[in-house]
Amino acid sequence: MGNKIISDGNELDTGAFRTALGQFATGVTIVTTRDATGAPIGLTANSFNSVSLDPPLILWSLARKSINLAVFEASPHFAINILAADQKLLSDRFARPVADRFESVDWCEGAGGVPVIEGSLASFECAAHRQLDGGDHVIFLGRVLRFRAAAAENDKEPLVYYAGRYAKADRQTAA
Ligand SMILES: Cc1cc2nc3c(=O)[nH]c(=O)nc-3n(C[C@H](O)[C@H](O)[C@H](O)COP(=O)(O)O)c2cc1C
Repeated sequence: MGNKIISDGNELDTGAFRTALGQFATGVTIVTTRDATGAPIGLTANSFNSVSLDPPLILWSLARKSINLAVFEASPHFAINILAADQKLLSDRFARPVADRFESVDWCEGAGGVPVIEGSLASFECAAHRQLDGGDHVIFLGRVLRFRAAAAENDKEPLVYYAGRYAKADRQTAA
């Protein structure tokens, strides 16, 4: 028995569409930059994806309603910080309207001054490459200038997001 067709695309049920999209399990990132005054800016995003190895390109998308849209549109650099399972509270914090998301967060400066968050599984420091229309989102392509990653043999678990909730990655043993 196959899956039921919920919508044929003529009349989109937004809630059902969102639920179906949520079946794609992702990691969780915090995307960071600096505003015109030099203040660190960041938000939680799971729209990150790899695009190209040569040149090294990645992408993520930002809701047009984000209060930080103008900052990211104007910024020559941004960083993607891939969160570990023990950074769940950071993920929550950077998804909420708190006064200073960076308060007591451990970070250092990456390329162009972008905040690189300590304890992340990997961070990609990017030059803004291209911005594309993504409907109610703007798609940002970044060219990776520098990246840092936890050692391959690290036993830190990634933070996973699935069906609107955090989840745990269950590592499969090699067959
Ligand atoms: C796991 C998770 C993933 C998210 N992914 C995105 C995303 O890819 N793009 C986006 O615009 N918002 C995303 N959000 C929502 C933003 O983090 C949230 O709306 C935040 O308040 C936006 O902040 P801002 O308006 O200060 O920029 C995500 C939230 C969570 C919890």
